[in-house]
Amino acid sequence: PTMKELAGLTELEERIRSRYGLRKVVIVSGDSEASEHVKRELGRAGAQVLRGYMAPGDVVAVTGGTTMAHVAGQLSSQRPLADIRFVPARGGLGESVDYQANTIVSTMAKRTGAQYRLLHVPDHLGEEAYQSLMQEPNIREIVEVIRSARIVLHGIGDAMVMARRRKEAEPAVAAMRSEGALAEAFGFYFDRSGNVVHRMPTAGLRLEEIQTAEVVIAIAGGRGKGEAIAAVMRFGHDDVLITDEAAALEMLRTF
Ligand code: F6P
Repeated sequence: PTMKELAGLTELEERIRSRYGLRKVVIVSGDSEASEHVKRELGRAGAQVLRGYMAPGDVVAVTGGTTMAHVAGQLSSQRPLADIRFVPARGGLGESVDYQANTIVSTMAKRTGAQYRLLHVPDHLGEEAYQSLMQEPNIREIVEVIRSARIVLHGIGDAMVMARRRKEAEPAVAAMRSEGALAEAFGFYFDRSGNVVHRMPTAGLRLEEIQTAEVVIAIAGGRGKGEAIAAVMRFGHDDVLITDEAAALEMLRTF
């Protein structure tokens, strides 16, 4: 038996996979919320899984966050992947620069010899600003590339943690709370059952593309995120989940 089998992780992966109807689940041991080492291992597992799915000509749309920064830092390729394009999944979502999707895709591309495109617009635009930005040929072109992604790789956060991190205004946070927002992923907020409780015009991936992309990969761990991960898995459009033991146990508890 491998170390993973001995630790019971293979069985845990299978339980999560079948309960949440996923194609593949990878679990690293420990709790990434409590240990930087585990968080690095989570990032490493993410990089490995992503490499396994990438095919020539792919557009890979990626979100931001601290977990994704670990994926980027450990992604590598022996030969340059010159025909792969990395793009941010969404516009700026108020993350600090190291954790912005733009920064992360440029790191991923540089480490693998791939190409990348950036999207220099804030997200969560009003309808009017959105319509006028979409008239810009440069922006329209990159947005079309983003929406053509075959692979989407995204993080998941707790709704209230993310609202605070993005400095959302208090009335908006209160409204989300009363709508039951529990989880956040790719700029959308979800309730416990996986319903989207917040949807706004975006210069980036829309829910339509999440629903139709060929491979949607989520990466998130930590005990405190278990319920949020479960909520996004109930939304039901992820194919692959990379998580840690602490979050996986929480996901089974709340099932
Ligand atoms: O803001 C980008 C984002 O991917 C969110 O969609 C997600 O909730 C969050 O980052 C996860 O961040 P972290 O990995 O730092 O918890």
